[in-house]
Amino acid sequence: MKPAVLIVDDEAGVRSSLAGVLGDEGYAVEAVDSGEACLNRAAGRVFDLIILDIWLPGADGLETLTALRERGVDAEVVMISGHGSIEAAVRAIKLGAFDFVEKPLSLDKTVLVVRNALRQRRLEVENRALRADADRRQVMVGESPVMAELREQVALAAPTNGRVLIHGENGTGKELVARSLHAMSRRAAGPFIDVNCAAIPEELIESELFGHVRGAFTGAVHDRRGKFEMADGGTIFLDEIADMSLKTQAKVLRVLQEQVVEPVGGREGIPVDVRVVAATNKSLPEEIQAGRFRDDLFYRLNVVPIVVPPLRDRREDVSRLSEHFLSVYAGEYGHGVKRMDPDGLAVLRQYDWPGNVRELRNVIERVVIMVPGPVVTVQDLSFLETAVPASAGRSGHTSAPVRLHDARDRFERDYIASALAIEHGNISRAADTLGLERSNLYRKMRAFGIRPSRPGGPRRSALSAGAGSPGPDPS
Ligand SMILES: Nc1ncnc2c1ncn2[C@@H]1O[C@H](COP(=O)(O)OP(=O)(O)OP(=O)(O)O)[C@@H](O)[C@H]1O
Ligand SMILES: [Mg+2]
Repeated sequence: MKPAVLIVDDEAGVRSSLAGVLGDEGYAVEAVDSGEACLNRAAGRVFDLIILDIWLPGADGLETLTALRERGVDAEVVMISGHGSIEAAVRAIKLGAFDFVEKPLSLDKTVLVVRNALRQRRLEVENRALRADADRRQVMVGESPVMAELREQVALAAPTNGRVLIHGENGTGKELVARSLHAMSRRAAGPFIDVNCAAIPEELIESELFGHVRGAFTGAVHDRRGKFEMADGGTIFLDEIADMSLKTQAKVLRVLQEQVVEPVGGREGIPVDVRVVAATNKSLPEEIQAGRFRDDLFYRLNVVPIVVPPLRDRREDVSRLSEHFLSVYAGEYGHGVKRMDPDGLAVLRQYDWPGNVRELRNVIERVVIMVPGPVVTVQDLSFLETAVPASAGRSGHTSAPVRLHDARDRFERDYIASALAIEHGNISRAADTLGLERSNLYRKMRAFGIRPSRPGGPRRSALSAGAGSPGPDPS
C-alpha cells in the first residue's frame, strides 16, 4: 500500500509543487487549504503523514495539530514554517510533530524529511503489530467478574498436572484457555500440541494420535510419530472431544490409564509424559446418556472442569475486547488504531453474539477493513442490527408469533440486562438509569432469572461488598 500523505497549505503554489514531488516519490498525495479542511479529511481516511503549514487562515497549524491529536489521529506530522514562525515550529515538536521544514521550501530537504517521517511511522506501525501479535497469542482480555473468576481458575489449575475439561459455546475462547493453561504450567517450555478431533477423518485419527509403523497399512511408507508422542513433556489439547468415535475413545482411555501409546501396527508401547486438556461445546453428560461418549473417559478427563461463559453473559467485556481487536487489526493492516464511538459501542453491547468472541473479532476485523476513517460509528455496524432485530433478543431464534405478554417480558428482560451491562453490573446505577427503585429492579432481575454479574461465591462477594457493586442476594 502506498503511504498516504496530506498536504495542508493555503498557498496553491506550495500545494501543487509539493504534491507533484511527493507524487513522483510514489506516495498517494492529497492537498487541502485550511486546518478545518485537514480535520475533515483526516476524519474520512487514514493518513500516514500530514504536512501542515503553521500559518493558516482560520485554525492555524498548532491548533490543527492539537485538534488532530485530540481526535486520535496518529499520523506523523511535519510542520512547514515561514519566517518568524520557528518558535511555533519548536512548540509543534513538543506537541508531537515529527520535524519541520522552513519556507522557502527546499524540495530536496522536504523529500528527505518526509522519508524520515514515513520511516518512523512504519517502525511505529510494525512495533504495534509485533506487540499485538504477542498479545494475541495468550492474553485473555476482559475485566468482568466472570472473566476474573475464569482467570483465577486457570491460574489455580495451570501448575498442577490435573486433566482439564473445558466446556463452552463456539468461539468463547476455549482454545485460548487451553493455551493459557499450558503457558502457565511447569510444562510451558515443552510442546503444546493441538488436535482437532472433529477435523480428522475417522480412519486417520488413530494414526494421528498414536502414530504408526512402516507398513501398518497401505500408504504407511514411513514410521510416523503420533501427537501424543510429540506432546511428550508438554500438553496435548484434544479439541472437540465429543466428536471422537467410541473406538478411539477406548484407545485414548488406555493411554490415560497407562501413560503409554501404541503406534498403529507396532508391538511395543512408548511411554509418554503428557498432560491432557480437552474441550467441547457439547454437553458430555448428554452425550453419555445418548451412548455416544464413554463415561469412564469423561470422569478421567473431567478432573478439573472449566466453563467458559458465552459473551452475552459478560457484556461488560465487549468494550475491552473491541479495543483489543481494533488494536490487533490496526497492527495487522498497518494503519492507525480506530476508535469505536459510544453509540457504536452500545450496539455491540446489546447484540447477542451467538458466535461469541470469535464473532466479535470478525466484526471488528470487518470494520477495520471497511471503515476508512478513524472512528467507527453506528452506521458502520448496521449489518449487525439487521442480523438480529434490536428487540428480538433470544426470541429472535423463533419466528412463531408470541403472546403480547411474553413479548413484553422478553423485551423488559433484555432491556434490563443491557442497562446492567452498560453500568458494569452495578444495580444501583442501572436502577437510576431505568428510573426504578433498587429493590424493584432486584425483584425484576430475580423474576427474569438475571443474575447479578458478580459471582455469588462468599469470598468474592465479601471482597466486592465495599466496592459499591451488587452484593449477594439479600434473601
Ligand atoms: N478473552 C479473550 N480475549 C482475547 N481474545 C479472545 C478471548 N476469548 C477468545 N478470544 C479470541 O477469539 C477467537 C476464538 O477463541 P477460541 O478459538 O479460543 O475459541 P473456541 O472456544 O476454541 O472456539 P471454537 O469452539 O469455535 O473452536 C480467537 O481468536 C481468540 O484469540
Ligand atoms: Mg476451538
